[in-house]
Amino acid sequence: MANKISIELLMMILNNVQSPRSTQDLFSSLLVNRIWCRVTIPILWELPFGQECTMDDTKLRKRALCIRTYISCMDTQARTLLTQNGYDLSSSPPQAAFDYPSFAHKFGTDNLIYFISVYSQQIIGSDQDNDNDDYNNKSRILFREICKLILNRCSFLDYFKLAGVSKIFFRNFSNYSDLIGLIPKLPDTPKVLKKLETFVLVKVNDDELIKPLYESLALICDDILNMDLQFISHQYPQLLPEFISAQKRLENLSIAHSELPIPMFCAIISQKETLESLRLKSVNFHQLEGESSPTGEFVSLQKLYIANCTGLDNSNCLSLASSFTQLSNFHCYHSLYNSISYPQEFIIKILETANANLKHIFLNLYLPIPSDIFTAILNSCTMVTKLTLHDISIEQVIAIFNNNFNELTRFSFDYNGLDANKLLCQMAESVPVSLETLVIRMGIFNADSLRKFFEGWCCEGGAGNKKIIVKRTEQARLFKLSDEHLEVIEEYGIPNQLLQTHNSS
Ligand SMILES: *[C@@H]1O[C@H](CO)[C@@H](O)[C@H](O)[C@H]1NC(C)=O
Ligand SMILES: *[C@@H]1O[C@H](CO)[C@@H](O)[C@H](O)[C@H]1NC(C)=O
Repeated sequence: MANKISIELLMMILNNVQSPRSTQDLFSSLLVNRIWCRVTIPILWELPFGQECTMDDTKLRKRALCIRTYISCMDTQARTLLTQNGYDLSSSPPQAAFDYPSFAHKFGTDNLIYFISVYSQQIIGSDQDNDNDDYNNKSRILFREICKLILNRCSFLDYFKLAGVSKIFFRNFSNYSDLIGLIPKLPDTPKVLKKLETFVLVKVNDDELIKPLYESLALICDDILNMDLQFISHQYPQLLPEFISAQKRLENLSIAHSELPIPMFCAIISQKETLESLRLKSVNFHQLEGESSPTGEFVSLQKLYIANCTGLDNSNCLSLASSFTQLSNFHCYHSLYNSISYPQEFIIKILETANANLKHIFLNLYLPIPSDIFTAILNSCTMVTKLTLHDISIEQVIAIFNNNFNELTRFSFDYNGLDANKLLCQMAESVPVSLETLVIRMGIFNADSLRKFFEGWCCEGGAGNKKIIVKRTEQARLFKLSDEHLEVIEEYGIPNQLLQTHNSS
């Protein structure tokens, strides 16, 4: 049977089986026959350094085995160097069945560090008999040789992640930035990174040593689609902005846990033609206070995600907000711990600017939704289809129901008031029949109120495709449904997940 599928077709199928999280199915297809194996190997070996790493010890150990295979693929010179430095290579006989490093298309320095740490511990032996400097040196040599191997043999990398070393690996990599500094010096780097699509940067602190890498990346890569930047240091405030600005078709930009100085702000604006999604998490905008100039229009930006950001209510950010005219998806989260005031003016500006383009809105400001923001939603966002609001009053729920949101199919809110029965009964009188899914977090309610609400929601028609999810507030966590509740639910036949406890919305 298997032979009847052409190799091209098989490649297409197996390529779709691959996912950064799971390789289980691919392992099965290795075993089908030799042809399947030949097709599967390259796909499987795209990933070792690109897969998300969990700290699960057994999994990590298993995945670290790829280091052995890579060592088997090294030339004699590299292998000799490792042996001279105390590595026992008996588990990595020379010459492998495939040229594994040539298949790599994803490369994350964090995975390489994890794997080398695990591998070294197994090969060199554990803690007692090695001093730390020695250990460190050995790990660094292996890191360098594997980097060279991959960059030398692979045809291209489409994913590149540069990450600081987490504390638990300090024993192997107490200093590491200079190793990263090696990457731009390798002769194959420009060729290999030319097709880079995704660049991830996490907590790399020593800009001094990384500088040459940024500079050469800005020259080599201008076609990156996704950038994910976390814990950015701004020792050289122009480095990263210049790299971002060099991109011709950046679609997704995500920035987290950082200050946002003016040059970074300008770099974001430089991408206003192509950017489709912008995510800002725990970003501090205070440095943008002061003069502002018009931003122009972000013609492609559909999604804006903001969480725990501070300092957004300044004229630069407000001018940015008024350039997001095409936004269809706005997600804003603010935690009390972060700062006392949420960016009210900024949020209102977003809502008023994108107005009828906004289809999905999520607002959780920790405190009750203030009336100015609420009014902006009612007046501007007339075409919303999915609306999630944290902490609103019964009056606000009713105001939503009476606002002729003709496209609204999913409404989710938290009601922190005490009278859940009153909420259900009042909702019954004005719930739009068109509403399909309702998600409420609320306190204790009785079966009569539930019946009244279902009557109002279903009117003459049946349940149709309606669905209700009720989550419990903290005070109601012991509340259980009675037989009467269950009877009502059965009578109306509305699919439900009543009384969930978990926190997601
Ligand atoms: C941008 O990110 C979204 C997920 O947030 C993803 O679905 C999309 O494929 C990304 N775009 C590109 C060009 O990779
Ligand atoms: C916001 O900050 C709080 C407190 O530091 C934290 O618990 C929460 O996970 C953060 N949320 C997001 C989405 O970043």
